[in-house]
Amino acid sequence: MSDHQSTEDNNERRSFLGVLSGLIAAGISAVLGVNIGRFAVSPALSAAGAENWSDLGPVGDIPEGNPVKKNVVVSQDAGWGKFQAQRAVWVIRSGEKVTVFTAVCPHLGCTVNAKDDVFICACHDSKWDVAGTAQGGPTPRGLDALEYKVEGDVLKVRYQDFKQGIAQKEVLS
Ligand code: FES
Repeated sequence: MSDHQSTEDNNERRSFLGVLSGLIAAGISAVLGVNIGRFAVSPALSAAGAENWSDLGPVGDIPEGNPVKKNVVVSQDAGWGKFQAQRAVWVIRSGEKVTVFTAVCPHLGCTVNAKDDVFICACHDSKWDVAGTAQGGPTPRGLDALEYKVEGDVLKVRYQDFKQGIAQKEVLS
């Protein structure tokens, strides 16, 4: 093999590798571009789906009076795949009457906790009474109540996320 031919072979190999790496880079850019574009126009995680009905156990097992914290598992779409996430809710039972609030603070999304019969958010010191009515702090609204139903004796809640930082309760889609 002559030096001339060897140089041509090397040039062909280089140009083939150049085309191949260009195609790989274009493919990666296309995939990233689609996903970055999705994240640019919507939150990294979609809101919990509309059909997220979760069991909270027998309604009779929920003690009357002070709020009881329960966890639910919801499905979410991260753009690149679906996964399960755990969310907290507060349940208050008074006889037959049940109220379920999401534990997400309507101000900026910290977790709302309960102390005796008041709800508090430690992030910026918002407070709500047991009915979920705002009692102080920067929260723009009351706690967000969730839809629920009782099937047999099992309490089920339809978990949803709501927009934060606005006065009206609006489902995040
Ligand atoms: S996030 Fe709860 S008061 Fe600000």
